[in-house]
Amino acid sequence: MGDLKGPMAFSYIKSHRGNLMAFLFGGEHRQKNEERGIEKMAISRKVKNALEGASWVRRMFEEGEELKRLYGEEEVFDFSLGNPNLEPPPSLKKALKTLADQPIMGMHRYMPNSGYSETRKAIAQYLKEESGLPFDENHIVMTVGAAGGLNVILKALLDEGDEVIVPSPYFMEFKFYIENGGGNIRLVDTHDNFSLNLPEIERAIGPKTKAILINSPNNPTGVVYDQESIERLTTLLKRKNQEFGKTLYLITDEAYRRIVYDGAKLPISFLSYPHTIRVTSHSKDLSLPGERIGYIVVSPLCEEVDEMISALVFANRTLGFVNAPALMQRLVAPLQKNSIKIKDYEEKRDLLYNGLKSFGYHVIKPQGAFYLFPKTPIEDDVAFVKELQLKKILTVPGRGFGKPGYFRIAYAVETRTIEKALPGFKEVAQKFGMIGN
Ligand SMILES: Cc1ncc(COP(=O)(O)O)c(C=O)c1O
Repeated sequence: MGDLKGPMAFSYIKSHRGNLMAFLFGGEHRQKNEERGIEKMAISRKVKNALEGASWVRRMFEEGEELKRLYGEEEVFDFSLGNPNLEPPPSLKKALKTLADQPIMGMHRYMPNSGYSETRKAIAQYLKEESGLPFDENHIVMTVGAAGGLNVILKALLDEGDEVIVPSPYFMEFKFYIENGGGNIRLVDTHDNFSLNLPEIERAIGPKTKAILINSPNNPTGVVYDQESIERLTTLLKRKNQEFGKTLYLITDEAYRRIVYDGAKLPISFLSYPHTIRVTSHSKDLSLPGERIGYIVVSPLCEEVDEMISALVFANRTLGFVNAPALMQRLVAPLQKNSIKIKDYEEKRDLLYNGLKSFGYHVIKPQGAFYLFPKTPIEDDVAFVKELQLKKILTVPGRGFGKPGYFRIAYAVETRTIEKALPGFKEVAQKFGMIGN
């Protein structure tokens, strides 16, 4: 936890040359302030604490940058960040060029906060075909990626002190998004194979619970929740709604929805539960994470859908997103059935998974996303990740996802990076006496 008194206070002033200069007020100032009972801290305690518990993903990524500087880009095998290595489909680039050559009048102006009608209609049509449910443009809000969408949903749903249940291991940013909305995260362990632990979820639901946030295909495990687990979860939620006389919302983060392997079928939670809110994006399926384009969908079967959409639109506006990027909305509208070549990721998964298994790593075979989450052969996942670093392999300790004793490998990288890293994974396995098959 952070030092609430604040070890030092920085104050930045602009010099006459326009440079930012930092002046450090050291011990004497602090002491005087403390004597006067004044706490001098530039930033909020909440943010300060969050910064001190800095993201492990970022930390490893930054250490990797240093290694790359020392040894060269090609000699460092960076599996730290889930940053898609594939290029967007050529059709997207073509449409971008057409828009630049033949601009549409007013295409850079403000628009309805929910986004262009034409884009929402295209998405609604896709969802209608996927589910058979009567989706239309009024059930969709375009957002600044899935991350923006999650913040919008949580702002719209939560009152101060409300709890959101999150199965763990989990994508750590969820905690901050929930806190941004004034709520508290309530973590619930998954089973050893990372499937949903229904008895634990049931135990966690209480009077403060407002929603459960699930992510499938999952970051960091790559696990896909099957139809049966969604049925069991939604049956539980319906029972709890009766018991507590209120509605629990099911938020489904489906940022990796199209990235599934082995012909796995992803359940459609809308069909099992009317109070489902899905958030997704084109960061992964069209490889556009830097362009920040995503959307929220509320089930047409949700009785309060209109009120919910109004709240989401309000949150989108007042959180300062205003609307999702205009150019991107136009470009993704006709691409609803397109995606990058999923098979490419599947081949990378197979190469890495088979290699790790043969070296003796204990790892669940993931059916989606682009992560592997093996067990570390020693308790200390940070120490193990450091051993891999000695082989110039960058991964993230499981504690960065609420699960010490594991580590995450993000394999959205060039195939040759995996090939070149495999001997290092093998040497570390041998060092720790792991026995391959
Ligand atoms: C589980 C999960 N949700 C949301 C996001 C954010 O996605 P976006 O780039 O669409 O904001 C990510 C990004 O890595 C993620 O892994």
